[in-house]
Amino acid sequence: MEKENAKKIVFSGIQPTGSFTLGNYIGAVRNWPLLQYEYNCIYSVVDQHALTVRQEPATLRKRTYEALAMILASGVDPEKSMVFVQSHNPVHSQLSWILACNTQFGELSRMTQFKDKSAKHPDNVNGGLFTYPILMAADILAYNAHGIPVGSDQKQHVELARNIAQRFNANYGETFVLPEPFIPAVGAKIMSLQEPTKKMSKSDENINSFILLSDDKDTIMRKFKRAVTDSDGVVKYDTENKPGVSNLMGIYKVFTGKSFEEIEKEFDGVGYGVLKEAVGTSVIEALAPVQSEYTRILSDRTYLDSVMKNGAEKAQRYSQRILDKVYRKVGFVQLKNK
Ligand code: TYM
Repeated sequence: MEKENAKKIVFSGIQPTGSFTLGNYIGAVRNWPLLQYEYNCIYSVVDQHALTVRQEPATLRKRTYEALAMILASGVDPEKSMVFVQSHNPVHSQLSWILACNTQFGELSRMTQFKDKSAKHPDNVNGGLFTYPILMAADILAYNAHGIPVGSDQKQHVELARNIAQRFNANYGETFVLPEPFIPAVGAKIMSLQEPTKKMSKSDENINSFILLSDDKDTIMRKFKRAVTDSDGVVKYDTENKPGVSNLMGIYKVFTGKSFEEIEKEFDGVGYGVLKEAVGTSVIEALAPVQSEYTRILSDRTYLDSVMKNGAEKAQRYSQRILDKVYRKVGFVQLKNK
């Protein structure tokens, strides 16, 4: 028990905005079950974050179940880790307000994701989109999480959470653990298969640019065969000059465990067609067990509802203690007999 308590906390979240991409999987979710042994892990379907972009209510509800099923299918065990839906724990929104009062407008204005998303949706640059990183900081700080397993696109947000925590501690005394991003050495940024200098994203208009975890094996192979490479025909890892080929090699490395040197040797002189097919096969094989688990779990609503309920209770109980402490520190009057 003593040792259990000494384990550090890991927190991560994913938005329920459609099927996960191969980028979500390699950059984040695939690593989540691996951390369950060394850390006390907390994983959330962050539905409140998803509202920063317009959502159709019935679709959001459906996708929330799908995201939860996919997290479980990836190997996260709700007996070992806390798994819950963000809107089921009001502490996140409550803490978010306190943190907002400790965050500067200038800091939020510098967030590259805000700049990108507001350029992409100029008709809906809402307050939530701007203050999103504060809610994300609340997700993390509500559990005093130390390690945040994310892809490299979330690094800036985790660093902001750390700065907010540091500032709060300086103003009110030691309260929050300072979080740090856990970014995988390979696959922290899986690139688009069509424009390999851009991140792979499910919001891309070109469906051939991303692999979805829900894609069947023919679709996966077809998308890899169409992947944009270059014209010199040499399989060599060079992200600067050969982003397409390097992206394919990165994906292959993740699923085969081979080094870039071994991959270069394996495909020496054979052309890109063979590489694309091998990458496609490695992805199909790696995703097959996750996909069949996903179908099984998603069909069991009673089970998913019970995971949500248990997770929400645990998450709320855990984070309420931290919120109470924060409320005391900032000077809110505590109700007597609480
Ligand atoms: P989201 O839902 O956009 O993505 C979920 C995770 O997938 C990673 N990711 C990628 N990794 C590698 N290559 C890619 N092409 C790629 N695309 C996405 C993301 O880095 C992320 O780790 N704000 C977060 C969700 C969030 C969160 C949190 C994360 C909310 N609160 C607290 C950690 C801690 C987001 O929108 O992720």
